[in-house]
Amino acid sequence: MNPKNRTPLIEMKGIYKNFRRVEALKNLDFTIYKNESVGLVGDNGAGKSTLIKMLSGLFPPTKGEIFIEGKEVKLNSYSDSTKYGIETIYQDSAVVNDMDIARNIFLGREPVSALGFLNLKKMDKLSMEILDSIGIRGINSSRRLVDELSGGQKQAVAIARAVHFKSKVLLLDEPTSALSVKETRFVHDFMIKLKNEGISSVYVSHTISNVFNVVDRFVVLRRGENAGEFLKEETSVEEISELLISHSSEDEN
Ligand SMILES: Nc1ncnc2c1ncn2[C@@H]1O[C@H](COP(=O)(O)OP(=O)(O)O)[C@@H](O)[C@H]1O
Ligand SMILES: [Mg+2]
Repeated sequence: MNPKNRTPLIEMKGIYKNFRRVEALKNLDFTIYKNESVGLVGDNGAGKSTLIKMLSGLFPPTKGEIFIEGKEVKLNSYSDSTKYGIETIYQDSAVVNDMDIARNIFLGREPVSALGFLNLKKMDKLSMEILDSIGIRGINSSRRLVDELSGGQKQAVAIARAVHFKSKVLLLDEPTSALSVKETRFVHDFMIKLKNEGISSVYVSHTISNVFNVVDRFVVLRRGENAGEFLKEETSVEEISELLISHSSEDEN
């Protein structure tokens, strides 16, 4: 796609985030366009998770502005971010292990009857449809605990949630760090499916080769700053890895 024709979905402008004396993000500009997958890469401590958490409403910026489809927004809670169509999958757990699958899919957006009662029947039916649509078979009840799913299946449930609720963007913070090669492929196939559904994504990783095939564009974070952006077709695994290595050796000096 011609970059000039892209429409911004989320724009972060002049973002700072301080944790006491640590400047986790510094004058950061970061844009997510419609229908694209962005690889957000950088060394440990670069600020990747801080950026993701800010977009998911965990904390506001110390300074700076966030725009969604051109309108300035304040993201002060998880429900603010989901209201704007932002769905997040965290590094450690995409889902809550000791909850049943159905509750996990709905997480605060459960269908209720006119009197405000949970519509369990509808929840179960929809859950089974969602599991089926993502190719998770052999689960005969959505009342089973999420713990019974494999790591890759858990990520898939979280991704299915984004598809079902028609999220605009899915944020994935090192989603495959604890997964096997096969499970990783399962999640990556899903991410491609996501884009076919018109959902943008931000894929955080510090392993370039892992994300290279899945994303359209890279943004390199370095000590809280945007250190460069590259369209995939104009760069290579080597170029981006080189950029990260040269930056980390500067850090040592
Ligand atoms: N809640 C917090 N309190 C204090 N410092 C934090 C907190 N979260 C992150 N940091 C600091 O901010 C910097 C960026 O961290 P993080 O966003 O987790 O980096 P990354 O995900 O790229 O590894 C690090 O120096 C980290 O120690
Ligand atoms: Mg992190």
